[in-house]
Amino acid sequence: MRVIAIDGPAGAGKSTIARALAARLGLEYLDTGAMYRAVTLAAMQGQVDDADEVAALSRGLSLEVGERGVFVDGVDATTAIRTPEVTGAVSRVAANSGVRAEMRARQRAWAELRGGGVIEGRDIGSVVFPEAELKLYLTASPRVRAERRVSEMGSGDVDEIERAIAARDHHDSTRVDSPLTEAAGSTVVDTTGLTVGEVLDQILRLLEHA
Ligand code: DC
Repeated sequence: MRVIAIDGPAGAGKSTIARALAARLGLEYLDTGAMYRAVTLAAMQGQVDDADEVAALSRGLSLEVGERGVFVDGVDATTAIRTPEVTGAVSRVAANSGVRAEMRARQRAWAELRGGGVIEGRDIGSVVFPEAELKLYLTASPRVRAERRVSEMGSGDVDEIERAIAARDHHDSTRVDSPLTEAAGSTVVDTTGLTVGEVLDQILRLLEHA
């Protein structure tokens, strides 16, 4: 299996870089954050709040995350998983150990089926694929991460987004089960002030020596 693991906080550029890197290497790309978002959306829609019930719901969910978009039980949820409501609720669902066990199993099965891939999230290098060929921890200054999110969304208050990102990162890095952390053996790439091309070049150089 050829797995490239990309972790890091919100807005560090993981999705953009993972997608571009996958295309360069002829691998598929998996956005694991979209999986946690999909479970969160399904729990909100079903008004399920109890932790065990949310975990059970995640086990029964049909989830498709790929090129065509995100489908939850066959319904296109590509846009619905990115609303501020889902973004505000996802950290709590992602801290649920039952949900995490289910998502981990699905992520490993996804990679096994494809002989690997470029996989991005928070715990990919630390927990899901500790034996990955290359483990990257992508980061950027909080201000730049907030600015990127605002430009992705087309509007928004940078200060407010920066505060929201900081709160989510804090929640994601202090949870008990597989918190966001720099995995052992990972390389930190600070994307502040770098173009996508520059980040990609750095990663391709790292891969040559991996
Ligand atoms: O990458 P994102 O912002 O779409 O991720 C949404 C949330 O999912 C994030 O706040 C933390 C959680 N997440 C996680 O706990 N583990 C992962 N491997 C990926 C995402």
